[in-house]
Amino acid sequence: GEGVEVPNTRFSFDGIFGHFDRASAQRGFQVYKEVCANCHSMHLMSYRNLRELGLSDAEVRAIAATVQVQDGPNDEGEMFERPGRPSDRFRSPFANERAARAANNGALPPDLSVIVKARENGADYIHALLTGYAEPPAGVTLMPGMNYNKYFPGHQIAMAPPLTGEGQVEFHDGTKATVDQMVNDVVQFLAWTAEPELEQRKAMGVKIIVFLVILAGLAYSVKRKVWADVH
Ligand code: HEM
Repeated sequence: GEGVEVPNTRFSFDGIFGHFDRASAQRGFQVYKEVCANCHSMHLMSYRNLRELGLSDAEVRAIAATVQVQDGPNDEGEMFERPGRPSDRFRSPFANERAARAANNGALPPDLSVIVKARENGADYIHALLTGYAEPPAGVTLMPGMNYNKYFPGHQIAMAPPLTGEGQVEFHDGTKATVDQMVNDVVQFLAWTAEPELEQRKAMGVKIIVFLVILAGLAYSVKRKVWADVH
């Protein structure tokens, strides 16, 4: 397309032994919750899914309880708000697409649940996108409300740079929140939400290869034995 070739970033989940870095993904959730969630929904995620990243029951309950969720109707037929529960989906920042566009200059912040799968080389692309803001080159005029980005197709993106300053998030685990750290962690989190079963898939691939190598060895030695007397 119109996009520029995206630089390749190394991630723990690359390669046949790829795995998720759970500490990084937990920090990435914190970045999502404190920054991205102001504009982007993740409607496929429930708070209880965070248990799989190693958060405790109590932590998950506490996180869910920080949001107010629409529920009802109750016995009186009324809708009401209550604190979130682990079984609730992540709360969306906007009631609907119209409200989301109205708050974003007409642009729609896409749902981030499976964005890593929805874009080509998604992890590399989102890493590049988040670090790819720059002054527009001479001769390029931005449309009102748009930002120049080296990696967004067409280079004019409605999203202002979301991660710009060290310490924008204060990580619970004490990790220094450089921009690079926050970007890597949020990509790690988004890669996990897009394909939580990646580790099982890769482990299965390795087992199949090992099995096939052993089977090939067996077939070869049987063949040698069966044909041993034929000259
Ligand atoms: C678009 C990620 C924070 C508003 C996007 C896209 C991604 C993304 C992957 C899609 C780009 C594409 O279509 O290829 C993130 C991440 C964030 C974040 C990881 C947090 C670190 C925000 C915030 C806002 C926002 C805080 C609002 C203030 C938008 C909008 C678009 C967008 C309006 C659509 C842009 C367009 O189509 O021109 N974002 N975002 N994002 N984001 Fe964000």
